[in-house]
Amino acid sequence: WPEDVGILELQLVVPGTYVDQTELEKFHGVSAGKYTIGLGQDKMGFCSDREDINSLCLTALSQLVEKSGISYSDIGRLEVGTETILDKSKSVKSVLMQLFEESGNHDVEGLDTTNACYGGTSALMNALSWVESSAWDGRLAVVIAGDIAIYAEGAARPTGGAGAVAMLIGPNAPLVIERGLRSTYMAHAYDFYKPNLDSEYPVVDGKLSIECYLKALDKCYQSYCQKARKLSGLTGESNDAVGINSFDGIVFHSPFCKLVEKSFARLVLNDFLSTPQELIPQLYPGLDLFKGVKLEDTYFNREVEKGFMAFSKELFNRKTKPSLLLSNQVGNMYTASLYGGLVSYLCSKPIQELVGQRVGLFSYGSGLASSMYSIKIIEGPKLTKLLSNLKSVIPLLNSRKKIDPTEFSKTMEIREVNHSKAPYKPVGSLSWLFPGTWYLNQVDENHRRTYQKI
Ligand code: CAA
Repeated sequence: WPEDVGILELQLVVPGTYVDQTELEKFHGVSAGKYTIGLGQDKMGFCSDREDINSLCLTALSQLVEKSGISYSDIGRLEVGTETILDKSKSVKSVLMQLFEESGNHDVEGLDTTNACYGGTSALMNALSWVESSAWDGRLAVVIAGDIAIYAEGAARPTGGAGAVAMLIGPNAPLVIERGLRSTYMAHAYDFYKPNLDSEYPVVDGKLSIECYLKALDKCYQSYCQKARKLSGLTGESNDAVGINSFDGIVFHSPFCKLVEKSFARLVLNDFLSTPQELIPQLYPGLDLFKGVKLEDTYFNREVEKGFMAFSKELFNRKTKPSLLLSNQVGNMYTASLYGGLVSYLCSKPIQELVGQRVGLFSYGSGLASSMYSIKIIEGPKLTKLLSNLKSVIPLLNSRKKIDPTEFSKTMEIREVNHSKAPYKPVGSLSWLFPGTWYLNQVDENHRRTYQKI
């Protein structure tokens, strides 16, 4: 087996435009603070009809290759995780092959993976398996997680966003995925799904989606801790040695920041429930009254939520809040949300602090699919390079254009009306795009899409 397989480079792509959530609250006529405090969201990135999932991924791949200094012939596998489906047959990956033309490399395995926000994680697992398999030919793998998250007008609209994260995967990586230590929980649920192929909008049962997310988190965490206990040769059921304290950071899929804050508290609740009764007064002062609560009764129990959020606030601020920058500033990027969380976490701390850290990741996709795994951060020139490439993230966010809610709403209408139209010539302004962005040039009468770079 090649050693230390993991992430060698990360490349983030976000739209050049955003709408301010305080302005959106006024525009939607909801009470002040509902989106900013209630959901924890400040800005929401969005794309005009000039961008689609293919153009986002073209930008992500071309920028990853350029910034990491590799060539297209160094890539032996390319996987895309997305739920932004434009075609029921042709993959995004096959569209990306146009970037390989000049190199002459057509020997590139991998295709698209779809299940709501989980596709990126499944694609990552495929890429890791390839590098660790007998089929590996020594080249690198690339995984792109990307989506355009938009909702019909209504309660869910402020939880949209858009973006992509491209990851370079190979051996001797600075972000090593821990071997033999990952847990998965999958089940059948109609919490969020996209049955209408003529529309970009999902059907959402908001409350059920939150319950499904929290249940999946409990299940993945319990199973992760059980596996960690076994690997460490520990006996007993207490999370003490393998629970929240064994992570320096924890990154979650983030549909909106408030849910992540609640989710962090829920991990502490899980640890609490696995703690021997006699240790509770000492380890969890003030929480005795919650002894004996049943996890499955607590998804919407405000007392339990409040108690554990207050208790875990300081730990949350340290271990998870730094991972929420992109979620707060761009919104939900669906498959890219978790990896945007990882990018945010890495941007938030100096290299000396990150070296040697262990970071847990929780991936959730409605429908439902979820996993928990962990990364070890390894010192060396590759880590320095990865982090120095991420220095552009904050200036990139700060250089976006703010668009007012009326214009945002019109842009959503244009996307809605023209979503599957052919022929179609996009009308969105090219001045909204960052330099170096790929964009949709036109759709011909046979639905064939062509792209250009600005
Ligand atoms: N000031 C401060 N807070 C306020 C407020 C105000 N003026 N007005 C309301 N709030 C608070 C509410 O109390 C509530 O907080 P708590 O839940 O902590 O009590 C919060 O703001 C949201 O208010 P509502 O519950 O009234 O919001 P809503 O019902 O209108 O919609 C939502 C919320 C269900 C999340 C909706 O936005 C939605 O459906 N979003 C899409 C689905 C989603 O993101 N699900 C998450 C899990 S599924 C997943 O993770 C996959 C994925 O990416 C989609």
